[in-house]
Amino acid sequence: MSNPNILILGAPGAGKGTQSSNIVEVFGVEHVTTGDALRANKDMDISHLDTEYDTPRAYMDAGELVPDEVVNEIVKTALDEADGYVLDGYPRNLAQAEYLDEITDLDVVLYLDVDKDELVDRLTGRRVCDECGANYHVEFNPPAEEGVCDECGGELIQRDDDTEETVRERINVYEENTEPVIEHFEEEGELARIDGEQTPDEVWDDVRDTVESEA
Ligand code: AP5
Ligand code: MG
Ligand code: ZN
Repeated sequence: MSNPNILILGAPGAGKGTQSSNIVEVFGVEHVTTGDALRANKDMDISHLDTEYDTPRAYMDAGELVPDEVVNEIVKTALDEADGYVLDGYPRNLAQAEYLDEITDLDVVLYLDVDKDELVDRLTGRRVCDECGANYHVEFNPPAEEGVCDECGGELIQRDDDTEETVRERINVYEENTEPVIEHFEEEGELARIDGEQTPDEVWDDVRDTVESEA
């Protein structure tokens, strides 16, 4: 049997990246994440699209969505190359959801359900490894030594868009554009809703059980 195609949905800070790392480790799939791909290409010149801004960075720092043309291309290329994947950060609006439907078949759709109030605390306290991308939280998931990655010894930094102001805008953009995507999958009866407010280990138990039973 080939590796599963998994979609993980959830608000900014719901724990998509955290759980995707576990999925990659246990199920041997690729982590396809538009956020990381865009962060690696923040200053790419997209002025030819004639949209509001000329780089992904400008959209991301404002908490807005990068144009569909840019992200659709990233996702298509990554999914074509993957033998099984966990897709994180996409689709974020209904147009992206329709495009995804055209290019792939999903085996499992997970939704990490977390209350809005919790999201701001999670994101403003997040720290990420500058070297390997591992995720921490100053309070909920601290590294053994402050500011240092447990996995690789790299430096832990704060993401540019994890300031309180940008976090609030990201949550607004999510409510307006991405909640309809959740409803779409729910109506299709494909959505596995997981309580994302449990501890990271408890969330992982539910994620693993769901993938094992549905894939
Ligand atoms: P992206 O990087 O995808 O950010 P996001 O969706 O806002 O999600 P996050 O990465 O912030 O949260 P997460 O769910 O991964 O949470 P994490 O596991 O880190 O996108 C960034 C930007 O790129 C967008 O704003 C947009 O501009 C652009 N973009 C990306 N995709 C796009 C697309 N498809 N179309 C257009 N534009 C796009 O956890 C968060 C924190 O909580 C961590 O500190 C973690 O340690 C902690 N934590 C995790 N789980 C728990 C738990 N169970 N209990 C307590 N704490 C926990
Ligand atoms: Mg993430
Ligand atoms: Zn690291």
